[in-house]
Amino acid sequence: MRKQYSLFLSTITCSLLIISSLNAQIYRPSAAVEERVIKLLDKMTLEEKIGQLTLYTTDWGSTGPTIREGYKNDIRSGACGNLFNSHTVGFVRELQRVAVEETRLKIPLLFGFDVIHGYKTIFPIPLGEAASWDMEVVERAARVAAIEATAAGLNWTYAPMVDISRDPRWGRVMEGAGEDTYLGSRIAEARVRGFQGKKLGDPDAMLACVKHFAGYGASFGGRDYNTVDMSERYFRNYFLPPYEAAVRAGAATVMTSFNDYDGIPATGNKFLLTDILRKEWGFRGFVVTDYTSINEMVNHGVAADEKGAGELAINAGVDMDMQGAVYQRFLAQSVKDKKVSMLQIDEAVRRVLRLKFELGLFEDPYKFCDENRQNAQLLSAEHRAAARDVARKSIVLLKNNQDVLPLKKSAKIALIGPLGDNKSELIGNWNGAGNADDCVSLLEGLRNAGASATFARGCEVEGGMSKDDLAAAVALAAGADVVVVAVGEKAMMSGEAASRAEIGLPGAQSALVLELVKTGKPVVVVLMNGRPLAIPEIADNAGAILETWWLGTEAGNAIADVLFGDYNPSAKLPMSFPRSVGQVPVFYNEKSTGRPYDPNSKWTSKYIDMSNSPQWPFGFGLSYTTFQYSEPKPDKTTYKKGERLRVAVTVTNTGKRAGEEVAQLYLRDMVGSVTRPVKELKGFQKIMLEAGASKEVVFTLTEQDMSFYRHDMTFGVEPGEFEIMVGGNSSDLKRVRVTMTE
Ligand code: NOJ
Repeated sequence: MRKQYSLFLSTITCSLLIISSLNAQIYRPSAAVEERVIKLLDKMTLEEKIGQLTLYTTDWGSTGPTIREGYKNDIRSGACGNLFNSHTVGFVRELQRVAVEETRLKIPLLFGFDVIHGYKTIFPIPLGEAASWDMEVVERAARVAAIEATAAGLNWTYAPMVDISRDPRWGRVMEGAGEDTYLGSRIAEARVRGFQGKKLGDPDAMLACVKHFAGYGASFGGRDYNTVDMSERYFRNYFLPPYEAAVRAGAATVMTSFNDYDGIPATGNKFLLTDILRKEWGFRGFVVTDYTSINEMVNHGVAADEKGAGELAINAGVDMDMQGAVYQRFLAQSVKDKKVSMLQIDEAVRRVLRLKFELGLFEDPYKFCDENRQNAQLLSAEHRAAARDVARKSIVLLKNNQDVLPLKKSAKIALIGPLGDNKSELIGNWNGAGNADDCVSLLEGLRNAGASATFARGCEVEGGMSKDDLAAAVALAAGADVVVVAVGEKAMMSGEAASRAEIGLPGAQSALVLELVKTGKPVVVVLMNGRPLAIPEIADNAGAILETWWLGTEAGNAIADVLFGDYNPSAKLPMSFPRSVGQVPVFYNEKSTGRPYDPNSKWTSKYIDMSNSPQWPFGFGLSYTTFQYSEPKPDKTTYKKGERLRVAVTVTNTGKRAGEEVAQLYLRDMVGSVTRPVKELKGFQKIMLEAGASKEVVFTLTEQDMSFYRHDMTFGVEPGEFEIMVGGNSSDLKRVRVTMTE
């Protein structure tokens, strides 16, 4: 049975991959489209042009999306050319009909939505998927999301979010790929490929939107919407590369961020939107604002009024105004006042129209409106199986004392905790059109696997714990062979506007776990949350810990797969887990400082009340087997600038079962014209090894991998000594030195 299931999953992997693109590259409008755009533009009034730069949201009724009459009239008059939060075939078809049958120029609408980790079949939150370190898995999840979303009327997703963040207080870390620039860049590319498919114009391809440009993840204090400021060097070295990677992978649109950078809000920031994005990277798609972020420039204090904010935005390079209606209300006047040129407006309109042509909307405005396709594809068995596979590959085993895990299916399991029998939180925040009812709870997952499990809540996610609830939980634990405790956050505790100043388990959940530990039964903690948590007492006292994030529709089945060893966990943390919020930001690629940490010397860079190290470092994750690494072997120890360096390492599965391992390569530039991090991820490979088997993994490092923004702000290498480090996480590494000569 299990074999058949694996076969089923691998068949799905293959069939989905055939339709995915392997050769995505920077988006370039085609010549044929250009001609049509110019002809259309010639016919447009200024008001119709501004309409193409206007984007409105629909609202939510009890049964689905609804649209304000005013917006519908704006579509009819050509004053609104794009909508978001409008989906499902019937709803979209009617609005598209208004656009292509009732307007003068019959220009079809774009329909956008936050398809972040699935449309109807919900996949793990992006931070969880990132933990798979498996680009095929990440691409596949985005591909399924696009297949479903385009079957439900959509043609534009507001993803991928590629903001690097080193601050788990920031709720939006759940939407990204974590703290690392290199891993984040590879994931950004994979997601763009997945959403946009083989080519724009295919019936299951949608526009990707790289967000939030730029630096949104570095908001001071981890507080959402807060200020961002840092040196340009730091910004370019660590924060910008994932956006660039996504653009180079072909992302058709970019969304601005709410924050300012170096004193200028991103939405009015010409340096970001024109100099870097368009001139340096050659981006040819269009830029949309985040929700009312033009209007918010008045609050930022860089514009006296909304009209001025609109002028700042369009002159900086913003093409489309999301929900703020600033362009709609003021742009024509700004043109009359000569604050904005017609050239600028025409260019923005061309960028939007090109993509409408590329999508094939002028040939068939209803191409994403096929009821049969919608019925067949949403939540199909194939998609659910893919979601289960991605979910189990996203689970990180953080602790497994005395091999508590995997469990026997015959064991008597006491499932305890507020999230044990829960569905609604498991689809996480930004859950598209997902329904909690379609989700498999952990209790169901255990039972589906054939195990006998009894359940007690113990406490709620928030608030205190009643004596009765605790007594019932302890009694259940006492009669069981093993206790599985499902604790974590509610979905709304991470995501937008969900920063937390304390990042422990909310409410009485820690106390519940510690009470269960006292029973003397083995305790397996299953964490369900959207950010790294600081849980030192649980780290010390639990028998085993699984980080399961919010895994989506198939959560319960996927967790059961790992708990029972039907899948051997292989995921690794994409973000460090601190011991305490006081250590934040704590991340692996820090600088050495002039007084590097020395536990025996007071006058070094450290805390007097806690170690510098995180609870679990970036790249960390256990398996039910063990792996050993040989010393890394470079193909030469001295090599010339411009040459490639190959580094080989042999990884051996020293345990008793087959497993996957993510071999990671880090680099340190020993002496630079500016201070350099103590290590930086520059390569990783996920390999499968049978018990006892060994495999040589070869990494190739290029000049680009060793390059950075040097003292004079040029990007390049500085020959000299480098340390190469290889291992299974960012702190447990084997090292070798090499020298690059001029
Ligand atoms: C605001 C969020 O910051 C952004 O990520 C999202 O895409 C838009 N709202 C639209 O929902």
